[in-house]
Amino acid sequence: MLNFDFYNPTHILFGKGRIADIHQAIPADAKVLLLYGGGSIKQNGVFDQVIAALGNRSITEFAGIEPNPSYETLMKAVDIIKQGSIDFLLAVGGGSVIDGTKFIAAAALFEGDPWTIMEKHGRNVSKALPFGSILTLPATGSEMNDGGVVTRQSIKAKLAFSSRHCFPKFSVLDPTTTYTLPPRQIGNGAVDAFVHVMEQYMTYPVNSPVQDRFAEGLLKTLIEEGPKALANPEDYDVRANLMWCATMALNGLISTGVPQDWATHMIGHELTALHGIDHAQTLAIVLPSMLRVRKEAKRAKLLQFAERIWDLREGSEDSRIDTAISRMQDYFEQMGVKTRLSDYHLGADDISPVIAALETHRMLTIGEKRDVTLDVSRQVLELSL
Ligand code: NZQ
Ligand code: ZN
Repeated sequence: MLNFDFYNPTHILFGKGRIADIHQAIPADAKVLLLYGGGSIKQNGVFDQVIAALGNRSITEFAGIEPNPSYETLMKAVDIIKQGSIDFLLAVGGGSVIDGTKFIAAAALFEGDPWTIMEKHGRNVSKALPFGSILTLPATGSEMNDGGVVTRQSIKAKLAFSSRHCFPKFSVLDPTTTYTLPPRQIGNGAVDAFVHVMEQYMTYPVNSPVQDRFAEGLLKTLIEEGPKALANPEDYDVRANLMWCATMALNGLISTGVPQDWATHMIGHELTALHGIDHAQTLAIVLPSMLRVRKEAKRAKLLQFAERIWDLREGSEDSRIDTAISRMQDYFEQMGVKTRLSDYHLGADDISPVIAALETHRMLTIGEKRDVTLDVSRQVLELSL
């Protein structure tokens, strides 16, 4: 096992009815900026619950944080905060609203050009406003980690940042808030969480059986529960299990002491920045080909994945690995997330611009062994056509 630090200060309030409890987690005299997206929270009753729970606190609203939150939109919230009457941020929504709020929290107190937060991936953040979140879409894990992804639309750059100052103070996970998710977002959420686990598990063995079995437990749960959420949207237990699974998939626990990959995410971010494809859709396109192209370097873990996740014990090593990757791809499709570039009307001509964007963003040698060069990324995309 590798050396590691594990630090996670986020207080989780889990379960039905827990939005009411935020009054205990936010100072009574807080001046709150309430941030949300395109309005789903107004249709499903979450907004009303939040307003009731905030009681007499001063509330300013900032609506319209879009999926794949844009720097341009987020800076408008920073301007509101700089006018001086806000001291607590409350994000209500999916990963985009929470990520956007993290950036706003850091940018509001940042001296200098806030875009450099993204260019330096958060290393230059030394403070942030306190914030909490109310999660309505289990997927990203943003509710219990210190990372965020922001897109600068004017230059089509989608970059990730993280800082230990950007953990939510608390996050409410009420599974009933997810009943209104459309099937596309249920599928996206399960696939994103699945791929988060794979980025931290599917590397090479370092004798870390605890982390491996945590990861395998999450993968198995996503495979079992994901289709049930599509079939029975108001099954509380299914939603609860998916919600906790997505949080645990990216809160730092399963990455302790193990190598991490993240090449699929880096290529996926470029596909979203250039073509607006949903985050999880990009991962479903990239990961199956990524594993096929890098089969030799990942052989030992792929065999473990085949045996423990898909029960494949017979036949040659290569056939077990090939079948395991195909089963995973079938699972993405079963969740309604298409897995080929052509499904999103992209073809061979669209590959070079993705490679050029990776080059611009210095993604020249990515993956757990830094051996995913631009040539390897190109091979992966060609196999996904
Ligand atoms: O904007 P509203 O109206 O709220 O609608 C949203 C949005 O259109 C809707 N939605 C959310 N909860 C709902 C709901 N609709 C009905 N009922 C509900 N309960 O869903 C749509 C998508 O929301 P979004 O927040 O964009 O989705 P997601 O949670 O998948 O977040 C994606 C973003 O997170 C980043 C991605 O790159 C992307 O920008 N990621 C963040 C990570 C992190 N912070 O650790 C890691 C991930 O790998 C990922 O990169
Ligand atoms: Zn992701």
